[in-house]
Amino acid sequence: MFGSIAHRYDLLNHLLSLNLDRRWRRKAVSTLSEGKPHRVLDLCGGTGDLSVELARRTPADLVVCCDFTRGMLELAGPKFQRLGLQQRCITLEADGLRLPFPDASFEAVTVGFGVRNFADLDTGLREMHRVLRPGGQLIVLEFSTPTAPVLSGLYRFYLKRVLPRFGDGVSGRSGPYGYLARTIGRFPDGPEFAGKIREAGFAACDWTGLTGGIVAVHKAKK
Ligand SMILES: C[S@@+](CC[C@H](N)C(=O)[O-])C[C@H]1O[C@@H](n2cnc3c(N)ncnc32)[C@H](O)[C@@H]1O
Repeated sequence: MFGSIAHRYDLLNHLLSLNLDRRWRRKAVSTLSEGKPHRVLDLCGGTGDLSVELARRTPADLVVCCDFTRGMLELAGPKFQRLGLQQRCITLEADGLRLPFPDASFEAVTVGFGVRNFADLDTGLREMHRVLRPGGQLIVLEFSTPTAPVLSGLYRFYLKRVLPRFGDGVSGRSGPYGYLARTIGRFPDGPEFAGKIREAGFAACDWTGLTGGIVAVHKAKK
């Protein structure tokens, strides 16, 4: 599915979020830069926008943009080249539920708008825990549920009526943006997801809502 919308993915992200997606990624990366990681796994890295922010705003020597959709990675690689980041950002086609890395390979793992798509969320979280070094940081940027009643009502209307039509119209594919709206609605909210991260073995789990709680940045340590 992501392969079929890859060519319009970045444009639609910026349009559908009114460009807020850039700010959300920067905020997620600023949470991480406190730890000064050297090797970062950007899981579900897609077209590489979060990897780019990681390379620009942290001292990381290596950012592995890992995704199982080749069509998304085929846009990430040239983007790294264009921005002169090809020495530090690489792409890797792999499944987040079975990562091809030994235990304790990274100082940090990030996921931007990816965990919502995992076929098995608990397995994905345990894999991230496995490949992190002790003391390593996990940062997950994901949609959440606004708590204020008016915003929450407007947001539900937007998800149900606006996003699927607009997304399908611009991408030229019927379905993926309805899927996006459904998965956002089904995904656990901030406190529940923080509990899942804890159950996967992480400590110091904390989260911050952004833009009235439309998205949340979760952080935790191994
Ligand atoms: C909404 S995109 C997010 C891309 C990027 N992180 C961003 O911030 O825009 C979700 C990505 O997760 C990837 N994905 C979903 N499940 C995956 C899995 N099990 N292993 C690897 N990638 C996965 C999809 O291929 C897709 O590219």
